[in-house]
Amino acid sequence: MDFRKLHFSDAPNMVVEPPGPKAKEILAEQAEIEGNAVYYPKVLPFVPEEGLGATIRDVDGNTYIDFSSGVSVLNFGHANPYILKSAIGQLKKLSHTLDFPTAARNDLVKRLIRIAPGNLRGNAKVIFGGPTGSDAVEAAIKLAKFNTKRLSVLAFTGSYHGQTNMALSVTAEKKYREHYSPLGPEVHFLPYPNTYRNQFGEDDPKRCSELCINALENAIESPDSGILTPAAIIVEPIQGEGGIIIPPDGFLKGVERIARKNGVTLIIDEIQAGLGRTGKWFASEHYGVNPDVITMAKSIGGVGLPLSGIMYRKKLDTWPPGAHLGTFRGDVVAMSAGAAAIDFAEKYDLLAHVRDMGEHSMKILNDMKSERKYVGDVRGKGLFIGVEMVKDKGTRVPWKEIANKIQSECLKRGLIVWGGGGYGNVLRIMPPLTITKELMEKGLQILSEVMKETEK
Ligand SMILES: Cc1ncc(COP(=O)(O)O)c(C=O)c1O
Repeated sequence: MDFRKLHFSDAPNMVVEPPGPKAKEILAEQAEIEGNAVYYPKVLPFVPEEGLGATIRDVDGNTYIDFSSGVSVLNFGHANPYILKSAIGQLKKLSHTLDFPTAARNDLVKRLIRIAPGNLRGNAKVIFGGPTGSDAVEAAIKLAKFNTKRLSVLAFTGSYHGQTNMALSVTAEKKYREHYSPLGPEVHFLPYPNTYRNQFGEDDPKRCSELCINALENAIESPDSGILTPAAIIVEPIQGEGGIIIPPDGFLKGVERIARKNGVTLIIDEIQAGLGRTGKWFASEHYGVNPDVITMAKSIGGVGLPLSGIMYRKKLDTWPPGAHLGTFRGDVVAMSAGAAAIDFAEKYDLLAHVRDMGEHSMKILNDMKSERKYVGDVRGKGLFIGVEMVKDKGTRVPWKEIANKIQSECLKRGLIVWGGGGYGNVLRIMPPLTITKELMEKGLQILSEVMKETEK
């Protein structure tokens, strides 16, 4: 397939500076009627109307390149026609069935088991619950507690796992946690190997990883660590909200070794990094790790339809019927879209495309890093790339304001790029995976020009 046909051909094309007149009106109306917690439009005053592939049009007729994919919800592109055909066909027939079987449901489950990471491949069970990523995280932790009859859970610094009570309990970012403590009991955070910014002041990736693994091992095995043997360790294979933090190669294997030795359930949260984003179906595959449970959401609904689930080793399949429920565990439209998305990716070798685009983009971004004073770090796998802004490359003091300024200048020129990182100083480059080389280069060119001008 010629991926060029999947996008608006004129992107980027700005006819009026955003927010244009129609956008202003709609933004004002939203501010009037929706709650104050609405967030994204306060960072980017943008009113989308129609999306296609890696491009998106606003209500005033501006066309943008989308480098954010709804934070990995639209890995297969906005309104992907191949997937839409399947979803619309299903919608006309039947849209909700609780967990009664349907062809679409079985199609998706069989495909997920076929593409599962590590030892789960071809040999796993799947269960759906509520439609969000947080629901999947809740389910994974419940399953681990049920199987181990233990309570405590270990998570990592820099992690993000969602907003519901248990998911928030294992989320490290303090701004989300404060006002709600105590959250779930017996949750402890261990250091994640952020090789650019870690508590050990350790730049060497191997050493940083070893220190983190030692801390985890000590937490679980030392008689006086204060930490009870956990039900689960939950870990992102690459941290997303944390700022695209890519662990050194041995880290996840080390975590797996410690989990196995101590009979602890290893939950790998693939919600943001999974479903092709890194050039493999699941990010944990890069590290040869064997999860006990993985969580999936975001792009699993094919074209942005809400769906989430967990996939786990058969030996953990001990819940009796009805032990884990959720009214929206039966969204067959999302399931049919999810199955079609996997078929689409396999048919057109999307994962190889992602790897090519990722490598090409990393070269361009690394050049930007050497040219620009405030680009401290560039890291990525596939199309999951972080660009970290600092006030000074020596001290690495985070610079959130410049990241925000770059985002808003990019918007004015037709590029949507979202931020991240605990300090809010990381730009996340994560376009729909169907993006063409031409669009990728145009987007990066905008970013480069904006950075150059912002540095003045
Ligand atoms: C790794 C990870 N886990 C869980 C979640 C929570 O998903 P949701 O926002 O759908 O509840 C997110 C959301 O960004 C995520 O990135």
